Amino acid sequence: MVKICCIGAGYVGGPTMAVIALKCPSIEVAVVDISVARITAWNSDQLPIYEPGLDEVVKQCRGKNLFFSTNVEKHVSEADIIFVSVNTPTKTRGLGAGKAADLTYWESAARMIADVSKSDKIVVEKSTVPVKTAEAIEKILTHNSKGINYQILSNPEFLAEGTAIEDLFSPDRVLIGGRETPDGQRAIKALKDVYAHWVPEDRIICTNLWSAELSKLAANAFLAQRISSVNAMSALCEATGADVSQVSHAIGKDTRIGPKFLNSSVGFGGSCFQKDILNLVYICECNSLTEVANYWKQVIKVNDYQKSRFVNRVVSSMFNTVSGKKIAILGFAFKKDTGDTRETPAIDVCNGLLGDKAWLSIYDPQVTEDQIQRDLAMKKFDWDHPVHLQPMSPTSVKQVTVVWDAYEATKNAHGLCILTEWDEFKSLDFQRIFDNMQKPAFVFDGRNVVNADKLREIGFIVYSIGKPLDPWLKDMPAMA
Ligand code: NAD
Ligand code: UDX
Repeated sequence: MVKICCIGAGYVGGPTMAVIALKCPSIEVAVVDISVARITAWNSDQLPIYEPGLDEVVKQCRGKNLFFSTNVEKHVSEADIIFVSVNTPTKTRGLGAGKAADLTYWESAARMIADVSKSDKIVVEKSTVPVKTAEAIEKILTHNSKGINYQILSNPEFLAEGTAIEDLFSPDRVLIGGRETPDGQRAIKALKDVYAHWVPEDRIICTNLWSAELSKLAANAFLAQRISSVNAMSALCEATGADVSQVSHAIGKDTRIGPKFLNSSVGFGGSCFQKDILNLVYICECNSLTEVANYWKQVIKVNDYQKSRFVNRVVSSMFNTVSGKKIAILGFAFKKDTGDTRETPAIDVCNGLLGDKAWLSIYDPQVTEDQIQRDLAMKKFDWDHPVHLQPMSPTSVKQVTVVWDAYEATKNAHGLCILTEWDEFKSLDFQRIFDNMQKPAFVFDGRNVVNADKLREIGFIVYSIGKPLDPWLKDMPAMA
């Protein structure tokens, strides 16, 4: 029986390994982590992450050929294939701080593999890493090898949160990069055989190591670039009376452009886009490619601009001050169908409003109060360092309350901001909400989920990202 061990039981390691276990009953899969809390949750009825379809997959395999454990060394030493899916956050200090990937967790995993291995291993980079990381990992492993043969593969993960199980069941492609030596090719074949249990062969792409590593950063940069492009257009739409949804629809019909990923929003979030683009920028700078670095930097600048533009719009519409006013925040997760708040645009928007002394009442169907308070108290880039995965007493942000109901959040509020596109927000009773709000009552839709015309009929003043402006908003132009 082939044995797989995955180091890192997070958003990628957990679902990916659960699907491998489901699709490959002949393979034993162990997912290990240094976080006792995470492993305990994976072994309980309350999984540590919310992901549609995940519970069913885990329930079918856990205890049969899928195991979650903190006994990292045992499972690593027994495995034939070791996936490393630890976090690779942005460095917060030292050389490259604020841009470069922090490979501390990766390096410590590699050193541990070298320490405990007694047989040949295929080590698979599942984490997103800077191009050429495999070379560094290879050096750590071979310099400590005790005669063991290690083959390093790059197998970046392309799943998106909220649709992880769907993406894993039916991926657009699986990418495997390896050395062009006979041993390297054998290792590629071994990993390909795992995926071939359910992924059609023509969707499994094999490349050299550096192409695989770089393709992951490139894919995220291209996707984020599309969002910044459409968000840049949204500002122009508001200035000219064009409607960004109509523009997206019109350009998306061009098969060379395509319709996906053209939804204007309050900004992209999530643990990957910003981190990976910063990493790409840093790699370009290290290679003296200043113009290329500046090109990609702009994607993040536009994203930051979009978030601050939204805050400015809220404040300027409400007579240039939100001081002491209650504002309801509907949605805190970085997208719908996940409880993940990493780099969610809601953090920047809330902090912007808090900076103007607003009182916030926040509701998200999947995010806990503890998480929200912690996010609002945390410094930029600190969120992805394991110390923060442990429970800590949050510095409570006193201007913030977290409630479990959209009606409670909006009661007596002057305005409401929709920051995540949860489906349930579409079917709220807005007449009831309007009746219980201060007047004039404002809706700021950062995801274009509500029907603005219907809300205007009720009496709301509505701002929808990238849509023709309400006469009220035209009279109160937001400062850029
Ligand atoms: P995560 O923070 O959810 O999980 C990482 C886990 O690794 C944590 O539970 C942590 O405790 C554990 N860990 C860290 N060091 C360890 C060690 N030495 N030994 C054992 N466990 C250790 O992160 P994630 O979202 O799963 O992302 C993991 C990697 O995958 C990152 O490089 C990320 O960029 C990439 N990625 C993420 C996504 C996504 O949607 N989240 C998608 C594609 C790729
Ligand atoms: C992303 C990539 O899509 C995935 O391939 C990679 O493996 C990890 O990073 P994820 O961050 O989970 O996945 O979600 P994604 O659906 O890409 O959304 C990222 C952000 O962009 C979210 O905040 C989302 O709301 C926003 N977004 C997405 C838009 O604002 N407009 C869009 O049209 C699409």
